[in-house]
Amino acid sequence: MNSSVSKNYDLIASIFDHDMALNMRYDDIGFYVDRINGKVSVLEVGCGTGRISIPVSRVCDHLVGIDISLPMLFELKRKLESAAEKTSNIQLIAMNACSIALQKKFDYIFFGFSSINYLTQPAQVANFLLSLKPLLKDGGCVLLDAFVPKVANGSTDAWMEDYIRVIPGGGKLKRLKSITAEGEISFVRRRYERYSVDGNLEQVINTESRIRPYSPEDLCRFLQEAGFELQGTWWNYEVRAREGADFFSVEARLE
Ligand SMILES: C[S@@+](CC[C@H](N)C(=O)[O-])C[C@H]1O[C@@H](n2cnc3c(N)ncnc32)[C@H](O)[C@@H]1O
Repeated sequence: MNSSVSKNYDLIASIFDHDMALNMRYDDIGFYVDRINGKVSVLEVGCGTGRISIPVSRVCDHLVGIDISLPMLFELKRKLESAAEKTSNIQLIAMNACSIALQKKFDYIFFGFSSINYLTQPAQVANFLLSLKPLLKDGGCVLLDAFVPKVANGSTDAWMEDYIRVIPGGGKLKRLKSITAEGEISFVRRRYERYSVDGNLEQVINTESRIRPYSPEDLCRFLQEAGFELQGTWWNYEVRAREGADFFSVEARLE
């Protein structure tokens, strides 16, 4: 499971910021900045190319970002070295969320943008949450955040066109997707086609991943069973409960 996740993100690391990053239609970054503002030490699990870590690092003292994909971390490192993004309080570590080995303790730990869905076995989620407990300072919080499963997230099997986007440099990126239900798990295939300004197909990337959608109730239960006390919940990164919301977030602290 984990090696295929890492391989997928390895393949799309250079296009992630024009791909999944642009699919987030809500202000999750503003939400994380608000939650973390003024904290001393923060851990982002699955930090990717730093879409959230970089703005969050500007409102906390120190941020550690871990990710299973080295190419994703390289993209983030490249940004940190550029004058625009320069910041010296981020430490990056290639590490699997399922086997975190860190000595530090944190005020806040988050695993955002539905990345928890890559832990396709509830036992993996349970072990992951238990492994966070010794990493939290007294009063420290954990936040999980994932899409809310809907009927349409189930099996469609057929290839659908997700989008065609103009990318920096003037070319286009087209993405197609198919989702096949395998019991509780969704097998997601994506095909990326990168076109030059002249419309020539220059690159094709095929990825395959397995995710397990978890309901808001599942996420809350996982945290409670691991010994955390729920502190707050949000829908589409806002406090107000929303019928048909796309994303659910839950914050918890050690009991
Ligand atoms: C949807 S992306 C989110 C990236 C970033 N947090 C953001 O919001 O833009 C998921 C990230 O989680 C990472 N990831 C997935 N499974 C992981 C695991 N088991 N351990 C560490 N990182 C993981 C992927 O490599 C990828 O960078």
